[in-house]
Amino acid sequence: MSDQYIAAVDQGTTSTRCMIFNHEGRVVAVDQKEHRQIFPRAGWVEHDAVEIWNNTREVTAGALARADLTHDDIAAVGITNQRETALVWDRTTGEPVYNAVVWQDTRTDAICQELGSRGGGADRYKAKVGLPLATYFSGPKVRWILDNVDGARERAERGDLVFGNMDTWLIWNMTGGVDGGLHITDPTNASRTMLMDLDTLSWDDEIAGEMGIPVSMLPEIRSSSQVYGNVRPRGVLAGVPLAGDLGDQQAATFGQACLAVGEAKNTYGTGNFMLLNTGTEKVPSKNGLLTTVCYKIGDQPTVYALEGSIAVSGSLVQWVRDNLGLIGSAPEIEDLAKTVEDNGGAYFVPAFSGLFAPYWRSDARGAIVGLTRYVNKGHLARAVLEATAFQSREVLDAMNADSGVDLTELKVDGGMVANETLMQFQADILGVPVIRPVVAETTALGAAYAAGLAVGYWSSEDDIRTNWAEDKRWEPQLDAADRERLYARWRKAVTKTFDWVE
Ligand code: G3P
Repeated sequence: MSDQYIAAVDQGTTSTRCMIFNHEGRVVAVDQKEHRQIFPRAGWVEHDAVEIWNNTREVTAGALARADLTHDDIAAVGITNQRETALVWDRTTGEPVYNAVVWQDTRTDAICQELGSRGGGADRYKAKVGLPLATYFSGPKVRWILDNVDGARERAERGDLVFGNMDTWLIWNMTGGVDGGLHITDPTNASRTMLMDLDTLSWDDEIAGEMGIPVSMLPEIRSSSQVYGNVRPRGVLAGVPLAGDLGDQQAATFGQACLAVGEAKNTYGTGNFMLLNTGTEKVPSKNGLLTTVCYKIGDQPTVYALEGSIAVSGSLVQWVRDNLGLIGSAPEIEDLAKTVEDNGGAYFVPAFSGLFAPYWRSDARGAIVGLTRYVNKGHLARAVLEATAFQSREVLDAMNADSGVDLTELKVDGGMVANETLMQFQADILGVPVIRPVVAETTALGAAYAAGLAVGYWSSEDDIRTNWAEDKRWEPQLDAADRERLYARWRKAVTKTFDWVE
């Protein structure tokens, strides 16, 4: 088997990629394609699920071609995905009834408020599902689709419609679609719907009932690592075992080898997501974090995590590129930021989807504060990068408070970790070393590990630990007084975004 490879499909918020890994966990080939971001009105974000499925097929074929491999060379394929993004489709025609409603979308605010007003407020379901009532999660999005698409509720009640996050949509298509595709998910994805009981890993009838979602629409919850079935005969991966499924942030945690209690990673993608492995213990948060499933490998006990979710980090750089035209490509943000020494007093709080952890305020909207005539575009670029680091500091503080243990270092991954200025500032503002692994694309790697473990390509989690290797480490250089002074300004800037949406 060692001359074979593992494929992973990473269906992210802005693009879909396929990566092929070897036994050492190194990247052999990658292909990637962006999809359209659809913004029908302020606060709404949608994706065309058919476009995403077509891109998935294209990049899978592309990655195989680049590595000069065929399906015979692939021992298994794993899926990882943007979580919470909700899709409803017809199980007999395979057609979505509406675009996928993306995790960043805030249209369900009224639904969340109404559910909370029945008692318990934002914490109504928290003890069971680990999440506050917020626009981020899938359940209320499904409710919105059933309430707003003509005939959808009746079709759902008749059993014609099914729900899935992007993992479920891809797996269903990859395993045959209308010709018997598997309608399944894993506990990491299910734990982001607000519909799964964290203890039993099964759908909660009562919550689904309150949200008006027929349980018959929901996928079967399998483990994150097991052979679910084989890829359909027509696909480029025809016959390959489909054997791993993890939400992208949990996949990155797995790929970063955060396999012991107290190990944490921070992924810098469209948003930022810090996850702390809390082992088989489900730790409730008192500081604005989420309790979520980290992974479940085969029939081994469930491993949980605390998560700090930040809605906007890399997508702020894209916004500066696409909506302001201040830079021509995302990496140019660093060049622009390096033209100045500091932020010139400007703070950019990107509350585009309200604020997620640790605030959970859907009434917040973005703000740039501290402007004077002195501030130039270099300072703004610097403030854009700093926003990611400051938000991560807020999450790290919450994590330390919830777990009762101070993290002494932080593993980082994702696209933005190539940005040295950001990584140095991150270490400065956290006050702990920041460590980047050799393979920074740990999301796809984690999904590959889940699939490879299920088919015996890797024999145990020890292989993951052995394969993990440090590439670079940034030590904090800022003195503590300066660190706290800057951070206090940030905290003040955040308060300026509150109460913006009535
Ligand atoms: O919860 C949303 C998250 O899964 C999205 O990740 O990497 O697509 O920004 P990413």
